[in-house]
Amino acid sequence: MSSTHLLRAAMAAHQPEWYSLDLLRTVLGELAGRPGLVRPAACATLRGELSRAGRGEAFVVQAGDCAERFADASSGTTRRKIDQFDALTARSVAAGGIPVVRIGRIAGQYAKPRSTPTEQLADGRSVPVYRGDAVNGERPDPADRRADPARLLDAYDRSADVLDVLDGHAVGGGEPVWSSHEALLLEYEESLVRPDREGGRLGSSGHLLWVGDRTRQLDHAHVDFLRSVRNPVAVKIGPSVAPGDVTALVRALDPQHETGRLTLIARMGRDRVREHLDRVLAELGERARDVVWLVDPMHGNTLVNRAGQKTRVVGDMVDEIDDAAGVLSTHGCLLAGVHLETTPDPVAECVATHEDLVARSPLPEYRSACDPRLGPTQAATVVEHAARAARRTRTI
Ligand code: PEP
Ligand code: CO
Repeated sequence: MSSTHLLRAAMAAHQPEWYSLDLLRTVLGELAGRPGLVRPAACATLRGELSRAGRGEAFVVQAGDCAERFADASSGTTRRKIDQFDALTARSVAAGGIPVVRIGRIAGQYAKPRSTPTEQLADGRSVPVYRGDAVNGERPDPADRRADPARLLDAYDRSADVLDVLDGHAVGGGEPVWSSHEALLLEYEESLVRPDREGGRLGSSGHLLWVGDRTRQLDHAHVDFLRSVRNPVAVKIGPSVAPGDVTALVRALDPQHETGRLTLIARMGRDRVREHLDRVLAELGERARDVVWLVDPMHGNTLVNRAGQKTRVVGDMVDEIDDAAGVLSTHGCLLAGVHLETTPDPVAECVATHEDLVARSPLPEYRSACDPRLGPTQAATVVEHAARAARRTRTI
């Protein structure tokens, strides 16, 4: 699945087939001349916050859209997302008793890895799959679905718009919401690398950058990229990860044992987390305690209802959170936080129970551009549950 690229030696999966490499080159040149989107000092501060979370002094809530849309980069929508973080923070503090580190899937979550390169439309036509607003359009139309490098400039501009609102909120005395996204489009990420204070490389596209479960191969370009930057970084680990590979990832990405540098986001699925996370932790041994552990109880629990909609059951999520917390504490580790797909909008994309999976199909308020998100009430329930589960790992 490697494709047209300009910069890399190592294999990179899930890269778009850009329609024009000349235009890509021009766009990357333009991006390289622009100011960095985030500052080194802010990334260093977040790294310190993550280190506190790793020690059990704070709880991480990382949440937001599966795929942000450019159209949602307005200040109004961004403020509603901040309000949702405020509500989730209150619930988390009440349940967990410690401060919250708030990290959005926000201000750059514009590119998605997809399981198939094309999508079959109802009329039988096949079009390239939607890969996020940074790559192509959501409308199922061949022209819109072309991978257009000019969209990378919009991704930068919309990220800057959202970051302005987040910065304004923090400067006004509000608790910060840090930015994070999956560092999937390597040319884009590389074009935004800027020097940090010590002359190292900062990925200036966002505060925390992560690599997904499909691009975490040790010898591939995404892990190389994370290794090369000084940001706090994260890797998603799913049920197919070999325990030895996790150990190698920890050695590669956190060679100095600096808590806060590396976050691992376990997204094993309700039925597999107990056994598989246990194997991962057993293999890691002492090294597991250098890592900030989050649980993503969503991506391993995706189901499809009878109407063909992707959905997830909140009951499965809370079960996975409990099992992840239990296994972590068995190995002397803390659950440091939770990673969720959420929206402040009153959507119906996830369901409460397995009965609802059948009873509530098709889901009426389904608006996600990609995976099913938790609405405000569901998100609060899951965060509260996770904060309690994390608290138990601190008192054992
Ligand atoms: C995501 O976070 O939207 C995603 C694609 O996750 P994962 O890498 O865990 O599959
Ligand atoms: Co997703």
